[in-house]
Amino acid sequence: MTVVLGIETSCDETSASVIEGRHDDVSVRSLVILSQDVHRIFGGVVPEIASRAHLTAIVPVVRGALKEAGVGLPDVDAIAVTHAPGLVGALLVGVRYAKALAFGADKTLVGVHHMEGHVFATALEHREAVPPFIALLVSGGHTLLLDVPAWGTYTLLGRTRDDAAGEAFDKVGKLLGLPYPGGPHIERLAQEGDPARFRFSRPMLRRDQEPGDDDYYDVSFSGLKTALLLATRASDDLGRDRASLARGFQDALIDTLVEKTLRAVRAHRRERIILGGGVACNRTLVAAMTERAASSGARVFAPTPRLATDNAAMIARAGLFRFERGDHAGPALNAYATLPIPGMSSDDQAASAVGRTALGA
Ligand code: KG4
Ligand code: ZN
Repeated sequence: MTVVLGIETSCDETSASVIEGRHDDVSVRSLVILSQDVHRIFGGVVPEIASRAHLTAIVPVVRGALKEAGVGLPDVDAIAVTHAPGLVGALLVGVRYAKALAFGADKTLVGVHHMEGHVFATALEHREAVPPFIALLVSGGHTLLLDVPAWGTYTLLGRTRDDAAGEAFDKVGKLLGLPYPGGPHIERLAQEGDPARFRFSRPMLRRDQEPGDDDYYDVSFSGLKTALLLATRASDDLGRDRASLARGFQDALIDTLVEKTLRAVRAHRRERIILGGGVACNRTLVAAMTERAASSGARVFAPTPRLATDNAAMIARAGLFRFERGDHAGPALNAYATLPIPGMSSDDQAASAVGRTALGA
């Protein structure tokens, strides 16, 4: 049995977790997540404030996770920390703290790519959420469609050309006068909306697209956002139309994500779909994906909200995988705003060139 302490500080959550196990037989012994609510006042994450808040929180959060797990530092085999991608100042707090802890206690240090953490999150709750599968990662900073034949082997199929899915939810939330982050508010409001009142065209989704086309899997949400802005301006009674606008937006976005994911399922003959990232908290998305995947013979696995959003348990889980493979980090481990997922290749060279710059957004 290996005990891993995971640390996550890439954005606005300070989190630590202790997991225990080997290979795919893993249990979470503790998970502490401290969310920085202060950013709500500014309508988005302010990097400098995030870094300072991590500095204040990191020691009690890590101590809390060890205490909750009932283990001391000597019981830990490896310390896994998110070192990319994310806000560099925020990442550095976790990376430096993990390095000091590992050096002081003579423990193995493992650097984890945040998005690889999201790929592993669902496996902590569902024993069957293991490769081969298609992964759709949708958060405030990322929208990635991956084929995962085995842990550590990732083929980038599609990504967003502009806004991430969560970012689109948040920006549209702002347009509709909803609090930040807008995602959960839009989902709630959309339930009262009339689906026939506003029908927005599905972004980057056309019947004539074929598997070799570079927009076959990619998505883009900026056009949808503009369509919503124009509809908001044209409305003579926003109070009356708000719920239906939220519904129209969410339907278009979900339809696109579901269809692109099912294209990947069919092309790669996968029987499982794994969802991850904050937007995977959207029950309407999970329900639509589950229903339509069934017709392709595929099952959908989504983490509960605590593991869908940023957390250190998924970092510890991906860290365990890297630890078992011997991917140990040294004192030179650094933080990076952008970095490709280790073991990731693209369907084609062109997509690779774009994918590498798009990953850290
Ligand atoms: O993964 P996450 O916690 O943070 C990162 O961006 O890494 O994701 C946050 C995003 C926000 O954009 C938020 O609006 C979105 O997840 N989100 C939702 C829902 N809950 C959270 N989007 C749509 N529906 C939801 N229920
Ligand atoms: Zn994330």
